[in-house]
Amino acid sequence: MAHEFWAPRTIVTGAGCAKEVGKQAKSLGGSRTLLVTDKGVRAIGLVDQVVRAIETSGLMVEVFDDVPREPEMGFVESGLEIFKRSQCDVIVTLGGGSPMDVAKAIAVLATSGGSVRDYEGQGKVLQAKAPLIAMPTTGGTGSEVTRFTIVTDVERKRKMLIGDPKLIPEVAICDPTFSLTVPPSLTIGTGMDALTHAIEAFVSVRAQPITDHLCLAAIKLISRSIRRAWKSGNDLEARGDMMMGSTLAGLAFSNSSVALVHGMSRPIGAHFHLPHGLSNAVLLPTVMEYSSEGNPEKYGEIAAAMGERTEGCSSVEAARSSVTAIRRLSLDLEVPTLSGVGIDRSELRRLAPKMAEDALASGSPGNNPRRASKEDIVALYEKAY
Ligand SMILES: [Fe+2]
Repeated sequence: MAHEFWAPRTIVTGAGCAKEVGKQAKSLGGSRTLLVTDKGVRAIGLVDQVVRAIETSGLMVEVFDDVPREPEMGFVESGLEIFKRSQCDVIVTLGGGSPMDVAKAIAVLATSGGSVRDYEGQGKVLQAKAPLIAMPTTGGTGSEVTRFTIVTDVERKRKMLIGDPKLIPEVAICDPTFSLTVPPSLTIGTGMDALTHAIEAFVSVRAQPITDHLCLAAIKLISRSIRRAWKSGNDLEARGDMMMGSTLAGLAFSNSSVALVHGMSRPIGAHFHLPHGLSNAVLLPTVMEYSSEGNPEKYGEIAAAMGERTEGCSSVEAARSSVTAIRRLSLDLEVPTLSGVGIDRSELRRLAPKMAEDALASGSPGNNPRRASKEDIVALYEKAY
């Protein structure tokens, strides 16, 4: 059986590696850079740092820092206009998920034209995009290495998912010092999102040998350091583990996909406006408990990667201890339940059948080791409450 694995051509890692950005932009043939970021990143001083690093290498920089929390289509168009007006030839994106999503879409439209809507779905991008360098500021989305972008179509009230290997940034620059000021709540949200990526890509029916190794390493790094990164944000070693874990998990799920947790989490975001990472974290223990019988051996490996003792255990017992480990982690990190985040129970019951349909339609539950029906998903929402 043949497996295809896609990744950026260059991944730069290590504390302080952000200063390499100018050199990397030059190596992509750039002379004028569009820097796509947001006001929050500017406020903590990272934009100035990156601008200086690019200018030192002799490149011009135009900053587009208007990207809001939601990567809306209108902002892709505004960014594209600046890219064209300033005759830019390379894009650098700095931030969490939103600026990266917008930057990926700008890079596609810059060479292929048309509207973001034309590329919704899988494999619709026909030409190479404008060269893109992605610099994450949270140990979270993994977007710096993935083939996905999500752009919100405000008019049609729709989150458009675009998936294509051509969306993968040419260069990812992962500097953990950039994540030192991430506040505790975001550290949990983005960290648990990354852990969910690693767990889901590992148990996915589309898993492959390379992604299996990446996932186990990511689970180990994140589960050993997330508590420390949450408690003492300026612990560089813990932040380093989180950023490395998130990038490895990103490489894994970009190739093996996510599964039931992500499928169920997106409708919670859409209806109750819960941040993506938090809705994954809330669902993870319940969905793992349900799914583990679909592949107990792999859940046992997750337990071992999380530091649980599994020697001498049956595969079912080892699988069970992966759920126990996640429950303990959630408790330590004060991750709430669905009721704890203020969702109204009767509203959830009313919407659950539609949410289950949307979850199934996203395709992610199809990768789960245990196939869930619409009724199963409704019951899981209830249980997570
Ligand atoms: Fe995610």
